[in-house]
Amino acid sequence: MLIRSATFVESASQLTECPVSDLPEFAMIGRSNVGKSSLINTLTGRSDLSKTSVKPWKTQLMNFFLINQTRHLVDLPGYGYAQSGLEHRAKWIDVTHEYFVGRPTLKMIFVLVDGSIPPQQIDMDFIQSLDEEEIPFAIVMTKLDKATQKEATRHQCLFLEKLTSFISTMPEIFAVSNVTKKGREELLEYIETLSLQDKKGGKVGTCEGDDIKK
Ligand code: GTP
Ligand code: MG
Repeated sequence: MLIRSATFVESASQLTECPVSDLPEFAMIGRSNVGKSSLINTLTGRSDLSKTSVKPWKTQLMNFFLINQTRHLVDLPGYGYAQSGLEHRAKWIDVTHEYFVGRPTLKMIFVLVDGSIPPQQIDMDFIQSLDEEEIPFAIVMTKLDKATQKEATRHQCLFLEKLTSFISTMPEIFAVSNVTKKGREELLEYIETLSLQDKKGGKVGTCEGDDIKK
C-alpha cells in the first residue's frame, strides 16, 4: 500500500468521543514505551505524526490518524506504566475494552511486544484476555534492532512457546523495527488486505482512490 496522505484527525478519551466514521480502523496497543506511536510514524512514513518519547506514558488519549482518506490508524495509550496509579489503570481497562467491543469499524488490534527483551507476563496476560474474549488481534514485535540476531531469535522462540501454551487461535505475528523500517511493507500489505474484507471475509467496494490490487 502506497501512503499518499496521512493526517491527524482527533483525540478521544472514550468511545463516545471517537470520530463518527465507517472507514476500516486499525489500532496499536501494548506496553507503554514499546513503540506504538513510532509504528504509526513508520507506517505513514512521517517522522513526527504521532508524538513519541523516550519516557513512558507519552500517549494518554486515543489518537486517530487518517491515511489515504480511506483508513484510520489509532494510537492507543499503553499499559504497564507503574506510576500511572490504580485508578488510572482501572479506567484504562474500561476505556480500551469499551472501544474494542463497541467500535464496529475496528478491523484489527495490533498488540506490540518488545522483541529486544524476553517475553513479559503483562503482555501474555493482555493477549490472553483478548484471546478469551475472541477479540481479533495480531502481534507486532518491535525493537528487534536493539537485540543481536541470536537474542532476537531466542526472544521470539520463547514468546511463541508461551503463546502456544494458552492461545486458542494463533494470531498473525509480524516483526518491525521503527529504526531500520524492516517489516513495514509486510504490515502495510496486511492492513490493506484486511481493509478490503468485510466481516464475512468478502470484498467491499468502497476503497475508491486507493491501491486495490487487481
Ligand atoms: P507510550 O505512548 O508512552 O505508551 O509509548 P509508545 O509505545 O508510543 O512508544 P514510542 O513510540 O513513544 O517509543 C518509545 C521509545 O522507544 C522512543 O524513544 C522510540 O524512539 C523508541 N523506539 C520505538 N520503536 C523502536 C524500535 O523499533 N527500535 C528501537 N531501537 N527503538 C524504538
Ligand atoms: Mg505513544
